[in-house]
Amino acid sequence: MTAPGTPPIIGVIGGSGIYEIDGLENTSWQKVGSSFGEPSDELLFGELAGQQMVFLPRHGRGHRIPPSELNFRANIDALKRAGVTEILSVSACGSLNGEMPPGTFVICDQFIDRTFAREKSFFGTGLVAHVGLGDPVCTRLGDALEEAATELGLDFKRGGTYLAMEGPQFSTQAESHLYRSWGCDVIGMTNMPEAKLAREAEMCYATVAMVTDFDCWHPDHDHVTVDSIIKTLLDNADKGRALVKAVAPKLAGRTVSCTSGCQTALDTAIITSPDA
Ligand code: ADE
Repeated sequence: MTAPGTPPIIGVIGGSGIYEIDGLENTSWQKVGSSFGEPSDELLFGELAGQQMVFLPRHGRGHRIPPSELNFRANIDALKRAGVTEILSVSACGSLNGEMPPGTFVICDQFIDRTFAREKSFFGTGLVAHVGLGDPVCTRLGDALEEAATELGLDFKRGGTYLAMEGPQFSTQAESHLYRSWGCDVIGMTNMPEAKLAREAEMCYATVAMVTDFDCWHPDHDHVTVDSIIKTLLDNADKGRALVKAVAPKLAGRTVSCTSGCQTALDTAIITSPDA
C-alpha cells in the first residue's frame, strides 16, 4: 500500500511512436533491475512542470522487442522500484468501432485479455493472490486524461473496451468481426497483462489508445498494414506526446489518495495463510 500523503510519481509507458516525453527536464537514463528479469530498457527519469516522471519505452529504444517477448513483469516491477505510483500507458491500436476512426485517442476503461503466451502474475505457488479487476482503470487518471485531451482539442473518446490479442500477426476478418460482436472498441497487442500487473503492484493505471487503422473488418478501408500504422502514428504521435505533457501538471502537487482502490488492491487479495 502506498502511504497516504505520498506525492505521485508518474510512470509513462510509451508504445509504438512514443519514444520520448516532450519538455522533460533534468533527465537521466538509469538502469533499474528487477527480480523478474530484464525490463525493456533503462528508465528515463525527469521532471515535467514540477512533476516527477519516469519513462519506459515499452518496446525498448529502437523498437527491438515484439509484444509476445515483452517482459511485462520486469517492466512493472522496475517502475515500482523506481517509486512510480501511477502509470499512463500510451499505445497504438486498431479500431473495431466505426465511431472511432484513425486519429482518435481512446481513454479505455475496460479490457478483454486474449493473450496466452505471457507471464501474467507476480504471484504463484507459495503466495496466492487474486486481485479485483472489475474496474481495471484508475478513474482519477482517466479524469486527468479527459481534461487534458479536452483542453488540447483532441479527437478523443472517454471509455472503450480494448481487446488485447497475442499477435504478432494481425487478426483474421472472422476474429475482427467476433471482437466487434463482443462490443470491443479497439484492438492492440500490449495492454495485457500490463494492466493486470499494475493492479497487482498496487499502481494506478490508465491507457490512451491512439487509433491507427480499422483493422480488417471495415468494408470501406484497406486491411491494416505496418506501413499504414506508421503513417498514422507519424501524423499523430506529436498529439500523443502533447497529451502526456498536458496531463503532468494536472497530477503535480496532488498527494496519492486513489479512491478507486488501485493502491490498496492487495488488502483483500491474498489467500495464502501467513502461518502456512
Ligand atoms: N496495433 C495497431 N493496429 C493494430 C491492429 N489492427 N491490431 C492489433 N494491434 C494493432
